[in-house]
Amino acid sequence: MYYPWWYVPGLTAPMLIAVIAVIHVFVSHYAVGGGILIALENQFAVKTKDKPYRDYWHNHARFFVLLTVAFGAITGVGIWWTIALASPLATEMLIRTFVFGWAIEWVFFIVEIIAAFLMYYFWTRLPEKTHIIIAWIYALAAWISLVLITGITAFMLDSRGLFVNWNETGNFWHAFFNIQFLPQTLIRTGASILLASLYVFLHAAWLFRNVNVANDPLNTQLFNKIVQRMSRPLIFGIVTVLLGVIWWFVLLSPNVLLVMERSVLLNILLVLFFGLSGLMTLLIILGPILNPRSINIGFALCLFIFGLTALASAEFIREAVRKPWIVDQVVLGNQIYANEVKERQTTGFLRTSYWQQLPTEKVRLGGMVFMYHCNNCHATNHGLSAVGPLLYGENKEKIVETIKNLNQPNISMPPWSGTDEELDALAEFLLTVQPVN
Ligand code: HEC
Repeated sequence: MYYPWWYVPGLTAPMLIAVIAVIHVFVSHYAVGGGILIALENQFAVKTKDKPYRDYWHNHARFFVLLTVAFGAITGVGIWWTIALASPLATEMLIRTFVFGWAIEWVFFIVEIIAAFLMYYFWTRLPEKTHIIIAWIYALAAWISLVLITGITAFMLDSRGLFVNWNETGNFWHAFFNIQFLPQTLIRTGASILLASLYVFLHAAWLFRNVNVANDPLNTQLFNKIVQRMSRPLIFGIVTVLLGVIWWFVLLSPNVLLVMERSVLLNILLVLFFGLSGLMTLLIILGPILNPRSINIGFALCLFIFGLTALASAEFIREAVRKPWIVDQVVLGNQIYANEVKERQTTGFLRTSYWQQLPTEKVRLGGMVFMYHCNNCHATNHGLSAVGPLLYGENKEKIVETIKNLNQPNISMPPWSGTDEELDALAEFLLTVQPVN
């Protein structure tokens, strides 16, 4: 095989990626949306000469820079580590195809970090006009990095080109401008602004938690202003996300739609996503818009958790509907290129390489087939979608039959890509992980 395998007991490696990626998304979207809100509100405060309001945003920027730069960077590197270990072939393919995209990305990261520090540390020292420009440079650089990453993640779901198909040219731009690029960019832009407004609610509700009209009328007024100003980006975010999701849905390939419809879990998550979006809209209208004074830390926290849950469900759906592909039409979930399947069925799925000898013992050989062919989506005897329980009660003939037709009728699985001998070994291994009773 091309690379060694990585088995994460119980959870499976891709699910570990998902956990880290979802945490990263919570912070990275804030890094973009928060940048846009700071730029907008800072400019508004300067224009209306509202010093207390501008001071609030200075205070918020501290929380913002600390969280996004430190946490965003750590979890971002975490994603690189886990994808390289869990799906090395797909990672290699993406680096080769998008190397130019990542090069641009790093340039914008550097611009972002410098602008963030200048914006925060020189908030009171820079002339107002210059400070406004720096805040906008940050916002723009952060948004461009979102756009760049979205081009790549959207390509993994659907590699068909928006104008020209990448597989005919191999050109970076044809891969980048794929069919899912625009709707996903719209969704992520809306989600960033939505999420950032929720962070602002939470931060402000905490900051002013002991403030009321009686003990501090000025800060109460300031708090109400923050809440009122933030309800507009909140609604803008929700509407943008919903429009983007509908657009995304319309462009889904028939295969992906089929995967989604067949999965009970994905249907439930879809309902959860739309249900939470509706509930949040209702709460925002009843709270911040009609009754800003009613916001307290509990309310802000509830909205925040609903927002994160909706975002996490959407990310999960987007990732899960990609099966059996790691990179659409290019790299399969069994760690080989799609165009190798036929050849490997005759010459063998496993390959010796300098780090690995093929075991002579049958069950151990089967175990190795499992690690490459199945480990990307299934745990062994216990855990996430574990094959042992899935094969409960099946004898060897039945197991062999299931694996021979791996992708039929279950289209989420790659086709069986090995020889009969490897299949036999895999079946022997699978018998050892079946529940006994
Ligand atoms: C790209 C992901 C992926 C790979 C790789 C994969 N599977 Fe699956 N498999 C799935 C999904 C998704 C399901 C549906 C699970 C569910 O409904 O809970 C599934 C279901 C199953 C089932 C349940 C029966 C069925 O057909 O629904 C068995 C058994 C199974 N897989 C065995 C295997 C074996 C053995 C391998 C390796 C040779 C393998 N899978 C590789 C994704 C994968």
